[in-house]
Amino acid sequence: MEFITLSNGVKAPALGIGTFMLSPEDAEKAVYAAIKYGYTSIDTANGYINEIGVGNAIRRAINEGIVKREDIFVSTKLWPTLYEDETAVDKTLDRLGLDYVDLLFIHQPSGNFVAGYKQLEKAYQDGKAKSLGISNFHDEKLEKLLAETEIRPHVIQLEAHPYCPEKEIMSRLSEYGTKLMGWYPLGHGDPGLVKEEIFTKLADKYRKSNAQIVLRWHVQMGFITIPGSKNPDHIRDNVNIFDFELTEDEMAEIAKLDGTKKYYHADAAQEEKYAEMHLPFEG
Ligand SMILES: NC(=O)c1ccc[n+]([C@@H]2O[C@H](COP(=O)([O-])OP(=O)(O)OC[C@H]3O[C@@H](n4cnc5c(N)ncnc54)[C@H](OP(=O)(O)O)[C@@H]3O)[C@@H](O)[C@H]2O)c1
Repeated sequence: MEFITLSNGVKAPALGIGTFMLSPEDAEKAVYAAIKYGYTSIDTANGYINEIGVGNAIRRAINEGIVKREDIFVSTKLWPTLYEDETAVDKTLDRLGLDYVDLLFIHQPSGNFVAGYKQLEKAYQDGKAKSLGISNFHDEKLEKLLAETEIRPHVIQLEAHPYCPEKEIMSRLSEYGTKLMGWYPLGHGDPGLVKEEIFTKLADKYRKSNAQIVLRWHVQMGFITIPGSKNPDHIRDNVNIFDFELTEDEMAEIAKLDGTKKYYHADAAQEEKYAEMHLPFEG
């Protein structure tokens, strides 16, 4: 495993498992399998409604001596309807069954996101979150957040893959040392991305799968990558990318895909809808 050092000195594994769209049962199986295959980083969110399953898997692996808590990097995200709920962080930790998370995000630039981030800052000061993140922020809302809060985000989660490496926003955040944790690293499973000719050519050369080449590209870009999977073979293969290196010329060839497409587009109206979308476990 390779690590990325965040601006506060916390070391984040360069690769983790994502759990978006996994039921609590599937998330529990996938995370437990991932830890057995050597993953030390797991990404979840209030909004995935699977934190209980994710926490069960982590605690089971710790209890069985497969891994120690201090060697696991857990990230989760507060959902916008909880930004003003001062019990939200504690309830998140209760669902996970953990005393702290390694990275805590606000999930969307929606509703009272400044209040949400201030909750994160308090959690950081109280030792309940070891680092802080924002997710899906851009333009004016990013500037408002930066203007009205104290702690610069250690990580930003954004859609990122070879079609969309998010250069502009990362250049804006470079003065703070904010790192990118890219979501949809495999294009959310879009075969069009993974089967691009360049990845097939490099997969032949390195005797890896196309998906492994894409994930290796993320790591060499300096991104933290969190491919989602509930397929044990994919989970095993996705972490097996630390025994080869793409050359500068190969990275430059992949860079030609930059600008091809983005899969997800949220406008301001959609972002505000998130602030009304209550989660089933809210009282
Ligand atoms: N902050 C946000 O708003 C946000 C939004 C979306 C996602 N995320 C986070 O980012 C993570 C990654 O995004 P994602 O899971 O949506 O998309 P992804 O990782 O780009 O793609 C997941 C898809 O790729 C397939 N896959 C995984 N490994 C593969 C392999 N080796 N070969 C072929 N197919 C493979 C999976 O199917 P199988 O199950 O069959 O392997 C699944 O359908 C999420 O799980 C979540 O933690 C955050």
